[in-house]
Amino acid sequence: MKILITGGAGFIGSHVVRLFVNKYPSYTIYNLDKLTYAGNLANLKDIENKPNYKFVKGDIVDADFINKLFSELKFGAVIHLAAESHVDRSITNPLEFVYTNVIGTVNLLNAAKTIYKENTNAFKLFYHVSTDEVYGSLGETGMFTETTSYDPHSPYSASKASSDHFVRAYHDTYGLPSLISNCSNNYGPNHFPEKLIPLCISNIKNNKPLPIYGKGENVRDWLFVEDHARAIDVIFHNAKAGSTYNIGGHNEWTNIDVIRLLCKIMDKKLGRAEGTNEKLITFVKDRAGHDLRYAIDSTKLQNELGWKPSLQFEEGLERTVDWYLANEEWLQNVTSGDYQKYYEQQYVKR
Ligand code: NAD
Ligand code: TYD
Repeated sequence: MKILITGGAGFIGSHVVRLFVNKYPSYTIYNLDKLTYAGNLANLKDIENKPNYKFVKGDIVDADFINKLFSELKFGAVIHLAAESHVDRSITNPLEFVYTNVIGTVNLLNAAKTIYKENTNAFKLFYHVSTDEVYGSLGETGMFTETTSYDPHSPYSASKASSDHFVRAYHDTYGLPSLISNCSNNYGPNHFPEKLIPLCISNIKNNKPLPIYGKGENVRDWLFVEDHARAIDVIFHNAKAGSTYNIGGHNEWTNIDVIRLLCKIMDKKLGRAEGTNEKLITFVKDRAGHDLRYAIDSTKLQNELGWKPSLQFEEGLERTVDWYLANEEWLQNVTSGDYQKYYEQQYVKR
């Protein structure tokens, strides 16, 4: 079967592509990616010459290109990860998020619908990868389940919520076999250093301030990226079309506690005296519309499909730090050029 994975050069996508290419030699994996600032073929160096892997550079917003690609290659399934993914960038430039996350998704759905209608036996599944941020923000208690109402607040989560609704609409209206998973915050190797954890790893390494929004009391529920990729594998192969699964590891942390733990791990790894890195913590102006707390209930996935997270947070964070310290060149390449402009705009006068 030919499987199209979109956004496969990004953070999560590269882990999904690697898992599928290595585990399923009988599938041909097409990685379609525009290679935006967040897409990086260096993430896939180890598998780029595998016979069942092909890279296609392209933009999901370009409907003609997408239609042609589907009509030529007649994919048997799609795993859709391509997106603009950073909340802060969505606050600065919401339209880009509408183009890629909403229009790009609808272009893919249209192209999938066309080949599905031509041969309903040949097109198996449109798997849409989404986020728990569509559910909005929690107070001190409670968790998101698959039946929690959508209540997005940021332009990013609003665009992802919209794309989720379109995926369900194509299932209900046209019978397109599709499903959605909503995952909590990921962390791990290849994470672009605009997000909290890799940004702070990079700054600790360079002895730069660690910008914590507000009081650092916001809570996120962190999952190691390879555990997310394994969940996508399990859901792709076992879930029924039309279903939704939450993915998360019951691992809630306030931002300040995450960064304190990271500082401690990196004191040791960098041979600095205990407490050295914590001095870099700097409280800065809060994010507009900052969601207080995310916490995801993944009981359905655990009970129905037997998936569970493989790592404790401390262990996952240590593996992540090790990866960044061993891949200095990767970090250097992605933090030169445009990144500097982004950093200045986002943080210097904050
Ligand atoms: P990322 O920003 O690291 O990667 C996105 C990838 O999509 C990049 O390779 C980029 O080049 C590509 N892309 C962007 N616009 C494109 C376009 N118009 N056409 C083709 N390719 C394009 O994102 P990520 O963190 O890996 O997230 C992947 C998916 O998982 C997204 O859909 C995101 O909403 C979802 N998700 C992310 C998290 C998280 O914590 N990062 C959690 C849950 C769900
Ligand atoms: P982020 O990694 O951007 O993911 P998301 O906004 O999708 O949850 O942010 C994680 C948390 O860290 C969030 O509460 C915002 C906060 N944060 C900071 O305090 N400082 C930063 O520089 C960044 C990027 C995020």
